[in-house]
Amino acid sequence: MSRVRRAWSKIMTFECAEWSPKIVTGLPSIDDQHRHLFELAATFCGDGDQVRVLKSLAMLTEYVKVHFREEEELMAACHYPHLEAHRELHGEFRRLLYELLENAKHMTLDEIAEEVKYLINGWFYNHILVADFHYVPVVKTCKNIPASTAASAPVLNASPDDSSPEWTDA
Ligand SMILES: [Fe+2]
Ligand SMILES: [Fe+2]
Repeated sequence: MSRVRRAWSKIMTFECAEWSPKIVTGLPSIDDQHRHLFELAATFCGDGDQVRVLKSLAMLTEYVKVHFREEEELMAACHYPHLEAHRELHGEFRRLLYELLENAKHMTLDEIAEEVKYLINGWFYNHILVADFHYVPVVKTCKNIPASTAASAPVLNASPDDSSPEWTDA
């Protein structure tokens, strides 16, 4: 763990990655996806074995990919002027997650759980509050909004014990 992250995790006193009503955007599909990501992240709290935790991490990474792709399609459809900058932020987060996925085999379960908390409760939470909240007004007044955004988000129907999770509509 880097020095910055270690310092950060000392400041933060939360136990689990927690969703909060403060991050509701008002876009049903996006809110469902954000909430589901926090639910996935919360599964890293408590006991677990290395295999289950690595599978959970792979699921989290996959769901983040789906969520970011959907957001980027939405911003593009609504001609959000800061799409490229937002896309770069998503890329940065994906890199952090891949880095964790890569290193997780050599980390303790507590270290992995700490990193997930840093990524979801720290980085991701703040990303929603700052970057996602910035595109929301543009999307809310957008005539071109894809139908899927008004509906509920797909949910990853799997437990970390499944080898092939499948996406279905909620
Ligand atoms: Fe988001
Ligand atoms: Fe975003």
